[in-house]
Amino acid sequence: MKANMTCTRSRSSLVLSILFAVVLLVLPSPSSASNRHVINFRSPGLYPEGLTWDPSGQHFIVGSLHSRTIHSVSDAGVVQTLISDPYLPENATILGISVDSSNRRLLAAIHCLPPLLPCSALAAYDLRSGGRRIFLSPLPSLPGDDADIARDVANDVAVDYNGNAYVTNSAKNFIWKVNSDGAAAIFSRSPLFNSQPVAPDADATFRDCGLNGIVYNSKGYLLVVQSNTGKMFKVDEESGTARIVLLNGDMVAADGVARRRRDGTVMVVSQKKLWYLKSQDSWSEGVIYDEVELEVEGFPTAVTVAGHDRVYVLYGRVMEGIMRSYKDGEEREWFGIEEVSSEKESGEDKIWVYVLIGLGFAYFCFWRFQMKNLITNMDKKTT
Ligand SMILES: *[C@@H]1O[C@H](CO)[C@@H](O)[C@H](O)[C@H]1NC(C)=O
Repeated sequence: MKANMTCTRSRSSLVLSILFAVVLLVLPSPSSASNRHVINFRSPGLYPEGLTWDPSGQHFIVGSLHSRTIHSVSDAGVVQTLISDPYLPENATILGISVDSSNRRLLAAIHCLPPLLPCSALAAYDLRSGGRRIFLSPLPSLPGDDADIARDVANDVAVDYNGNAYVTNSAKNFIWKVNSDGAAAIFSRSPLFNSQPVAPDADATFRDCGLNGIVYNSKGYLLVVQSNTGKMFKVDEESGTARIVLLNGDMVAADGVARRRRDGTVMVVSQKKLWYLKSQDSWSEGVIYDEVELEVEGFPTAVTVAGHDRVYVLYGRVMEGIMRSYKDGEEREWFGIEEVSSEKESGEDKIWVYVLIGLGFAYFCFWRFQMKNLITNMDKKTT
């Protein structure tokens, strides 16, 4: 019996090493960026965390760290104030923002950083009428949870085609849903969101940051990334049930997410890099097929897809604004939105297909050996 167990173990560890080798083989090597469109824009003390593209206005939209304002930024870097909402708590932060194209609305996740009193809300503004506020919905805490002690963090927002918004709570690892009338409720609190180990190299900037970037897919689900574990989840839009997306790596410190509609590519940004992901089975499994190094000092937090399917990240230097690590009265004036491109995207280079096949094969081998062991063990028992 003992020998048999050892044998089983060594066999499965052999399979594991094969699996590991395959995963290592298919891990993407970083590619560099060149010839990119760089937009520098001036807005003293803005320190924006959120970025999105407004296809009707043909401009970017960015949030703000503590000025209660939302701005448009043109291709040429011209900044205009779209929304200035003194009704928000003083010095409140605009985090994730998203355009609801069907209703021509802008949705914004509102958060209050310490020492402000906690506030978690979703605001909706009418883009047709010069930014009139439609609703400002406070987001409920978990039952029995005292948000004054452990603050909720409404971090990012995605919207479906009916105008329902989905907001991640990165402090408590759940997702709110806010309908188009502003009615807010806790929507998904899957136990899976608390099942994954925090990455050993998670530093103080994101160790306590769970569910973060979120995108909606019209096939009926949301994709959500978790900063401190590097995992991605697929969440059903009806039931809120979640599954872990099997990937060939963890995206540790993952922040914002964007999806390119043309080919379904998903981009995930962190302070260090931009990951490119593909899936062939609606995100039961996916593959990171490229990663592009970003400029760490710029503290990128958000990614969006603009006109002509071009991918842009926001360099909002948020941490400098939060830590106030600038000289008195010398808040930063300039911020950046920069195009990022993947070399592995161009031409007929369909590397991600091979990576997916490799991954599928590895899973298959693993499964087959498990079955074989099971059958062997069952044979032993019956004889
Ligand atoms: C908002 O920020 C300003 C500038 O830092 C500060 O003087 C003011 O007291 C803050 N307001 C609140 C309510 O904390």
